[in-house]
Amino acid sequence: MTSPDVADAVAVLRRGGLVAFPTETVYGLGADAGNPAAVERLFAVKGRPRTHPVIVHLAEATAVKGWAAEVPRDAWALADAFWPGPLTLILPAAAHVPGGVTGGAATVGLRVPAQPLALELLAAFGGGIAAPSANRFGRVSPTTAAHVRADLGADVDQILDGGPCAVGVESTIVDLSRGTPRVLRLGGLSVEALSEVLGYAVEVLPLAAAGRVGGPGPAGAGLAHTGPAAVDHDAPPAPGTLASHYAPEARVEVVAVEAVAGRAETLLAEGRRVGLLAPRRVEGLPPGVDALPPAGGSQAYAQCLYQRLREADRRGLDVLLAVPPPETGIGAAVADRLRRAAAAG
Ligand code: TXA
Ligand code: MG
Repeated sequence: MTSPDVADAVAVLRRGGLVAFPTETVYGLGADAGNPAAVERLFAVKGRPRTHPVIVHLAEATAVKGWAAEVPRDAWALADAFWPGPLTLILPAAAHVPGGVTGGAATVGLRVPAQPLALELLAAFGGGIAAPSANRFGRVSPTTAAHVRADLGADVDQILDGGPCAVGVESTIVDLSRGTPRVLRLGGLSVEALSEVLGYAVEVLPLAAAGRVGGPGPAGAGLAHTGPAAVDHDAPPAPGTLASHYAPEARVEVVAVEAVAGRAETLLAEGRRVGLLAPRRVEGLPPGVDALPPAGGSQAYAQCLYQRLREADRRGLDVLLAVPPPETGIGAAVADRLRRAAAAG
């Protein structure tokens, strides 16, 4: 039995409308992927450049055959292991995939999300749903229906409310369209888990790890940035890999926990409103620092991250000092998003 809200949402999609829906990662802004006019409206509402491709969401792994021209063995292995889940596979696109979906590229991004309402919607709709995160271009991704409403308002025809997203950061994107799989965006599925299933260490594109591009962070940040500073000009256009994304209004500075108090003192002396986001309570803070609730372990940190960045703006902070979690598992994606937010400031 399809629930009434989902039946309405299917009708909206069939007539070319836009439906925001929950996934386990973030809320998506959905349109019928087979309807070029609907996809066109999606880009207009998002304010996103037409050359940036969108992910097509599917009800089950076997549906990839309708969207990909070719599905390599590694892609099936990853789909078997991780779908439904926070993983997007980039594959050679089938000839009929609308150019609006692929951004004119020869590839298509495909994902089966692990969220009951999303799966119900996808099964009832029966086709692919093109969905970027349900925020305006360059803004923080929404992890609740209220975030979507605040950001997109009346521009979206219907919002399905599935409560807060369980994972909280976007899917991990793996490009399987050019031989050896490569991670284009760190996300909800860890690189360690991918490598374990594939049986070798998966390459992470330099651009996929924001902090490793563009050199050191803000002065006094106290975190070493190592690795290549070069940008891969061969990389496909991917807005999720732009440094300017994931940023709140407040300037974000990524700092090591030992450096927090000193940096906060300097900023407070300059008259700034300073907030703190950290995995645990930090002792010895100068008075006047507005500490957000501790984020917790990596999983919990990911889950609350975008909510906290919005909270920083609600509190009118000028600067948010952010202590990243350890960079293993999903912690790598959290640290990545914090660095992107910092790079935008
Ligand atoms: O978790 C997620 O992936 C969420 C939920 C809604 O599924 N979606 C999401 O969509 O984050 P979006 O559009 O905000 O980010 C999708 C990323 C973009 O960086 C886009 O460029 C990239 O996926 N992408 C999509 N199709 C691609 C393709 N054919 N080749 C390369 N990158 C692609
Ligand atoms: Mg996005």
